[in-house]
Amino acid sequence: MTKVALIGAGPCGLSFLRAIEQAEKKGEKVPEVVCFEKQEDWGGLWNYSWRTGSDQYGDPVPNSMYRYLWSNGPKECLEFADYSFDEHFGRPIPSFPPREVLYDYIVGRVKKGKSKDKIKFNTRVANIEFKNDKFDVSYQDKVNNEMSKETFDYVVVSSGHFSVPFIPEYKGMNSFPGRIMHSHDFRDAEEFRGKDVIVLGSSYSAEDVALQCNKYGAKSVTIGYRHNPMGFKWPKGMKEVHYLDKLEGKKAIFKDGTEQNADAIILCTGYLHHFPFIDESLKLKTHNRLYPPKLYKGVVWQDNHKMMYLGMQDQFHTFNMFDCQAWFARDVIMGKIKMPETKEIESDINKWVAMEEKLENPDQMIDFQTEYTKELHEMSDYPKIDFELIRTHFKEWEHHKVEDIMTYRNKSFSSPVTGSVAPVHHTPWETAMDDSMKTFLDQ
Ligand SMILES: Cc1cc2nc3c(=O)[nH]c(=O)nc-3n(C[C@H](O)[C@H](O)[C@H](O)COP(=O)(O)OP(=O)(O)OC[C@H]3O[C@@H](n4cnc5c(N)ncnc54)[C@H](O)[C@@H]3O)c2cc1C
Ligand SMILES: NC(=O)c1ccc[n+]([C@@H]2O[C@H](COP(=O)([O-])OP(=O)(O)OC[C@H]3O[C@@H](n4cnc5c(N)ncnc54)[C@H](OP(=O)(O)O)[C@@H]3O)[C@@H](O)[C@H]2O)c1
Repeated sequence: MTKVALIGAGPCGLSFLRAIEQAEKKGEKVPEVVCFEKQEDWGGLWNYSWRTGSDQYGDPVPNSMYRYLWSNGPKECLEFADYSFDEHFGRPIPSFPPREVLYDYIVGRVKKGKSKDKIKFNTRVANIEFKNDKFDVSYQDKVNNEMSKETFDYVVVSSGHFSVPFIPEYKGMNSFPGRIMHSHDFRDAEEFRGKDVIVLGSSYSAEDVALQCNKYGAKSVTIGYRHNPMGFKWPKGMKEVHYLDKLEGKKAIFKDGTEQNADAIILCTGYLHHFPFIDESLKLKTHNRLYPPKLYKGVVWQDNHKMMYLGMQDQFHTFNMFDCQAWFARDVIMGKIKMPETKEIESDINKWVAMEEKLENPDQMIDFQTEYTKELHEMSDYPKIDFELIRTHFKEWEHHKVEDIMTYRNKSFSSPVTGSVAPVHHTPWETAMDDSMKTFLDQ
């Protein structure tokens, strides 16, 4: 029987397990899957951990989630086609759920089946090599500190790419008397109450960590962008300035001449695609972009079609795109989708990469990833879902953010799966301090 090693039981890994289970339900002969997960439970980043740095076994903690995180896009845009929010919660719920609610939804779908039996928890993949037409996968049972090796026909990497922080250095950091941290280790904005905080970066982490600090009572929040400002209308106590030049004692001096006293610096400077466990010849090397090169249909490794990657793109679309990728990967492995000739693969990859390199604004990026996801969707039997509605939602959401960055999470959207319209949440995000699932669902 064909054997597949699946690395990681985060949303992407769970999509793949679900894809296998759905085929099995239809009576198809599916491959044997062994999923390796280095954490003690499933859910990936959504399996929140208070830990930062190393875990109790000395292994780096992959989690980058924080306590009061809420979805930064409408939940309707990430909805599973085969498991709607209405089905999981028994009724429509508001469009921007907090972390605990999304976690419940993600694992709720797989809890219904037997996928958990396929996962080896607390097990870290340490090495993957391709020899004699097979993959040798070496892994560590972290609890007993024991190494083992097994042979597989296929490898599907779903280990995520928002776990290993990129940490630049600025002049004066060594002698800065306050706290310096990366957003990867940010867990709770409460610790910055009454403090002057500097946030560096201009993407989603910078935006949301800065807003969190403001919401939980930081005295001031100054965002230093490098290339382009986010340009939102920031609330009182927040400003956005150009690039940190240096730190002098507690003073942060920016390229545009702004000087700001600082108690803490939070580096929201992104993450590295980091696969120390994969042999060089199989390893994806890319920065965070919408179409990493060398992946056919964004999934199959160009130089070895038995090696696959899920979710390695920068992401507007998430869970349903991961599903489309997982269904596609499954069907390639099961021989239902035939890989084309080398030349066709190359020109397909080049076509997408060239289109991606011309993208200029968020609307074009949304269009690009929607087209990519739609193309994948048509290649498998992943159930019907309205990607045109999702495209429209994403653009509307972008405009809501520009209108008012403090209120975009109070809006409501309609489901691309059931058509139901989300109720407006009982408390605006800005004043919703209790974001437990119980309170959120108590409509
Ligand atoms: C702070 C933050 C907030 C986000 N918020 C949102 C949001 O609101 N909405 C949204 O749609 N997306 C959000 N995302 C995007 C996020 O990428 C996806 O939601 C999703 O978690 C990606 O799933 P994944 O399976 O690719 O990776 P992950 O969730 O990172 O899961 C990867 C899994 O692989 C395991 N693993 C890694 N290496 C190994 C190894 N060597 N051996 C065994 N197991 C291994 C890890 O333990 C982990 O469980 C957010 C990301 C971050 C960083
Ligand atoms: N649910 C939520 O609310 C939430 C919150 C946080 C994160 N997320 C998710 O987390 C994922 C990762 O987002 P991310 O923002 O961490 O990473 P990211 O999107 O890859 O952005 C990295 C940022 O780092 C900046 N940067 C890199 N090097 C820098 C330097 N030397 N100095 C200053 N800035 C530098 C980049 O700036 P340039 O553009 O100038 O290169 C860019 O703005 C996304 O999927 C996002 O949706 C979600």
